[in-house]
Amino acid sequence: MSFPPRFLDDLRNRILLSDLIARKVKLSRRGHEFTGLCPFHNEKTPSFTINDEKGFYHCFGCGAHGDIVRFMMETEKMTFVEAVEYLAQMAGLPLPKASPEQMKREYRRHGLTDIMEAACLFFQSQLFGPNGAKARQYLGSRGITPALAKRFRLGYAPKGSALFAHLTEKKYPLSECINLGLIVEGHENHARHDYFYDRIMFPILDRRRRVIAFGGRLMAKGEPKYLNSPETDLFHKGEQLYALPNAIDTIRKTNQAILVEGYMDVISLHEAGFTNAVAPLGTAFTENQLGLLWQITDEPIICFDGDNAGRKASIRALNKALPLLKPGKSLRFVFLPDTFDPDDMIRKKSPEAFKSAVQGAKSFIDTLWMTLLEGRSLDTPERMAKLEQDATESVQTIQNEAVRKRYLKEIKNRIWRLNQKRSNRNLSLTGFQSISRPLPDLGSGKMLLSYLICYPHLAQFFLEEISSMRPQEKDLDNLLNQILETLLEKPETTSLELQETIPEELKNQLLPEIEMLKKSNRTDSDVRAELQQFLQALRLKALHREKQLKTQSYLADHNPETYHQIKYIEEEIEKLSEII
Ligand code: UTP
Ligand code: MN
Repeated sequence: MSFPPRFLDDLRNRILLSDLIARKVKLSRRGHEFTGLCPFHNEKTPSFTINDEKGFYHCFGCGAHGDIVRFMMETEKMTFVEAVEYLAQMAGLPLPKASPEQMKREYRRHGLTDIMEAACLFFQSQLFGPNGAKARQYLGSRGITPALAKRFRLGYAPKGSALFAHLTEKKYPLSECINLGLIVEGHENHARHDYFYDRIMFPILDRRRRVIAFGGRLMAKGEPKYLNSPETDLFHKGEQLYALPNAIDTIRKTNQAILVEGYMDVISLHEAGFTNAVAPLGTAFTENQLGLLWQITDEPIICFDGDNAGRKASIRALNKALPLLKPGKSLRFVFLPDTFDPDDMIRKKSPEAFKSAVQGAKSFIDTLWMTLLEGRSLDTPERMAKLEQDATESVQTIQNEAVRKRYLKEIKNRIWRLNQKRSNRNLSLTGFQSISRPLPDLGSGKMLLSYLICYPHLAQFFLEEISSMRPQEKDLDNLLNQILETLLEKPETTSLELQETIPEELKNQLLPEIEMLKKSNRTDSDVRAELQQFLQALRLKALHREKQLKTQSYLADHNPETYHQIKYIEEEIEKLSEII
């Protein structure tokens, strides 16, 4: 819907910007403006100003800028139309009258949604009536209580043409019932009949909670398992998300959404407290659906089934979203173990197991990188070059320049690190060891930094390994990060240059060690071997520690993922022990 400019002007005149903002931000007057702490970024002194005459706010700190409508959109994550409607209601301003054609279209739409509503009520009453015993039993067997069925307005489409009879009796025009995909026009010897026959019904609601379509599930094995309403004047499935009206408040509040594959997944998740779950509707995730989610949240989490089809669907979603990434707007990905879908995770494992899977969601870049590495061997320069080419090509499709540049840089870094790993034969490619490891004791952090500062040209061979290590002392850890960044950006940095970056308070800890190393007069290859041994010993200690921790956690929850990780750590320990 578009609003005439005059209407928007009226709205801005009725609602004083400073009144609106004062509900959220403590304001103080300064001349003919107001100032306060900016709600869009963290600050201690106010740089957020409001000018009621111009009707605009502006933040000199972060550049946020806008009017009453923009303010509602940004702070309440509303769409433009929602913000205008909300403000109009607040101002007591009636929404502008639509043109006659618009009215006619709206009117017909209303007529259509009335029919869908009548069908939904009918299916609901069937579920709880005498015909619904088998359906109620089926839902019970899937853990759906009557209360949950009511919350999602589930129903039952009986055998025969009961809906047809019901809608005819209510005098709804038959042609519209056919257009809506509820009734099938008879042909040849067949009479008209209901589209949905002996199925559990899942109504699909639009954002205004009007019924626009149905999905119907068979209770026994058969094809198709789910039958969905056809595309109609009300229903364009690529533009809707199942359960969005149920989930939208939580999504807004938590700025988090979980996208799952199926109706049943959504319902189980909501019941288990994950009230931000939605699903696409029996189609691949579309650009429109992504846009819809990005209007209300920044990084929706894709959590499809753990089977092969689910994994593939996740990758398809990734490829669809890649060109569309924008600053702040991304996706994250959860890969469930084995062949679990979210419904199974909740029921056969536990809501906690699902929660921890979601907390481990992979970032977009990590998932993209994983798909780029999958199934490749990178043991020759040509194969490395091919990876580089494919990675660059795929990242080049990102339309937003700022995001594209970041991705190109990140990909370059990752390929560079991969090269480092390759020249370091002991390290495998799985990326598992890039998890950061706390160093086992206090002295080793100091030693590590001294080596790094003393021999930056040799440290180059071990950067990947070193970058996964975390000294226990915060200030040493910070210095390590800083030096690694310097060496990544400028590999030719000298030892003296690095020494100058040591903060004053660390100097008396580090300089004596560095002096000692320098005095020792050993050849490069000696030092390199020594450094390698030092790192391997550290790594071994860290691996033992990690194994201990993982074993404890495995004993607590028997997560198969953890079990695999322990096996992996054991293999690594074995490999390393042979070398040392
Ligand atoms: P699934 O086969 O994974 O179903 O399809 P499910 O959601 O786990 O359902 P249950 O647990 O077997 O009852 C995922 C989604 O794909 C669509 C539906 O939206 C379904 O929820 N689908 C599936 C169809 O549209 N038609 C089908 O025949 C099957
Ligand atoms: Mn499933």
